[in-house]
Amino acid sequence: APVPIPDLSSCVIPPSGLPKPLQAIEPAISCCPPISSNIIDFKFPTFEKLKIRPAAQLVNDDYFAKYDKALKLMKALPDDDPRSFKQQANIHCAYCVGGYTYPYLDNPKVELSVHKSWLFVPFHRWYIYFYERILGSLINDPTFAIPFWNWDAPDGMQIPSIFTNPNSSLYDAKRDPKHQPPTLIDLDFNKDEPNPNLSVETNLCTMYKQMIRNSKTWKQFHGCPYRAGDKPDPGAGSLETSPHNHIHLWSGDPRECNREDMGHFYSSGRDPLFYALHGNVDRMWSIWKTFGGKAKDPVDNDWLESSFLFYDENKNLVKVKVKDSVDEKKLGYVYQDVEIPWKNYKP
Ligand code: C2O
Repeated sequence: APVPIPDLSSCVIPPSGLPKPLQAIEPAISCCPPISSNIIDFKFPTFEKLKIRPAAQLVNDDYFAKYDKALKLMKALPDDDPRSFKQQANIHCAYCVGGYTYPYLDNPKVELSVHKSWLFVPFHRWYIYFYERILGSLINDPTFAIPFWNWDAPDGMQIPSIFTNPNSSLYDAKRDPKHQPPTLIDLDFNKDEPNPNLSVETNLCTMYKQMIRNSKTWKQFHGCPYRAGDKPDPGAGSLETSPHNHIHLWSGDPRECNREDMGHFYSSGRDPLFYALHGNVDRMWSIWKTFGGKAKDPVDNDWLESSFLFYDENKNLVKVKVKDSVDEKKLGYVYQDVEIPWKNYKP
């Protein structure tokens, strides 16, 4: 059976997967959103034209000012407003470190986790989709589209500069000070061992390997099936393992116990960079499907009918299904058409 929506009323405090020392210091730490008993079903948005999510390194000052303003407004909302940045960040904490459970058969509390399985890619599409809608509504611009961090191309292989101005809302102090621009990102980052061969070319090879050689089938790309009642984390897809996980660790701050913010599930949503990293993960899904052959989404009903809950820009609690996420155009956006240089980087 498909994974059902979490039961918000039994949200776990503190979430079970929170690093233990943190639980000890702050047992009341909570990622749980405000509760609403009214759940509405998702309906596709109506729009005149598709929004184009831009590559973060290519946006102009006006765009930066707009995103900065929208995020400032989001950060200024009261903490208990489900649209606030605090609550947006908590979504990741609740869904990813044992905050949520759902009832299934005779077990009233099956743990829910959206990583390391075929839910990874669609869950994060929905997550940033609502984040984008909320930002747009806060600046009364439904055409606002979030930027993607183009880490798969040479021009994007560093932290995009729009995220590094300490006076802007896009900044986060908890990042590795050694990985500030123009430091080249390491898509194969290992926190314990520096990579002596790091170069633009090795990054392009990593992309080729993960997106083409190791992503021939949906199981390789999306990850293993995860159905109602299953134990969490049956197995991650190639993109999630690398470069996605490596980018999280590379971005986080080594001076923090868990490389916060980006280096741990519970805190990564607190860094605005997270939503740009996931913009590109999302873009990779769209690109992968253009490869043809077996690069096709699962047709398994347990995947298509799996569902999640998100608050929208009107504070409505919306139930979404994986099947409604498979075509980003129906959600109203596409990605800026930039080069995909790794396609020919067969190692
Ligand atoms: Cu939910 Cu980048 O992870």
